Amino acid sequence: MSSNPTSLPKSKELPHHIAIIMDGNGRWAKKRALNRIKGHQEGAESVRVIVRACREIGVKILTLYAFSTENWRRPQYEIKSLMALLKRFLKSERQEMLENNIRLNAIGQIERLPEDVQAVLNETIAATQHNRGMLLNLALSYGSRDEIVEAAQKVALDVQKGALEPGDITPGLFSEYLYTKGMPDPDLLIRTSGEIRISNFLLWQIAYSEIYVTDPLWPDFRKEALLEAIRDYRTRERRFGMTGEQKAKSCT
Ligand code: FPP
Repeated sequence: MSSNPTSLPKSKELPHHIAIIMDGNGRWAKKRALNRIKGHQEGAESVRVIVRACREIGVKILTLYAFSTENWRRPQYEIKSLMALLKRFLKSERQEMLENNIRLNAIGQIERLPEDVQAVLNETIAATQHNRGMLLNLALSYGSRDEIVEAAQKVALDVQKGALEPGDITPGLFSEYLYTKGMPDPDLLIRTSGEIRISNFLLWQIAYSEIYVTDPLWPDFRKEALLEAIRDYRTRERRFGMTGEQKAKSCT
């Protein structure tokens, strides 16, 4: 082990932006004959641990898939519990975000969240807006296809208004119409619980992300599991479509 506090060798770059599909809360609870809500509660503890660890390690953006547009189809009691948990998390972590220079942002159809959750979310976003140590993006009522369709609608409106020509529409310009406007794409996408699926998460943004699927269920995914994912990332050769030789030259 190296002596640095993160136990990571400093040789290769850290992922600047990590996105996580936090899966397996329900199975974690089921394995213990507990209610699914208990799994989400323990999952919220993993959120705390992983946010803190990313901040310590020096990750600049962390995007967590906390609630999808498809999750609205879950039983009402589970949705209510998840919303209550989110509200509690936002209240209890606000001070820690302020102390650790973490800025909170939300991506998704935020207007679909219950008003009391929106209020606490907006208060926390406003309170942390000047922080620059790390950006914590919570994907809430998020669906990537909806995000892309909404972006296409906004682009079409700008063309209709004469603010844009169809020929102006490039991938770079289109990105500016997404919820993730102004953010670099994820370098590393992690999915817990061993399921090899993207589940409508950041479909546009992960075009060149390194994907890491790991067996632990989200409530068991703690700091050491994160460090392992980052170590694995550091062994990858990211070529962005180039040959290995071209990529090596482009870095010199
Ligand atoms: C997937 O587990 C997880 C979710 C649908 C919600 C994620 C929520 C949390 C991690 C806790 C609260 C979040 C915050 C930000 C405080 P699943 O229920 O689909 O698990 P399963 O596939 O095993 O049933």
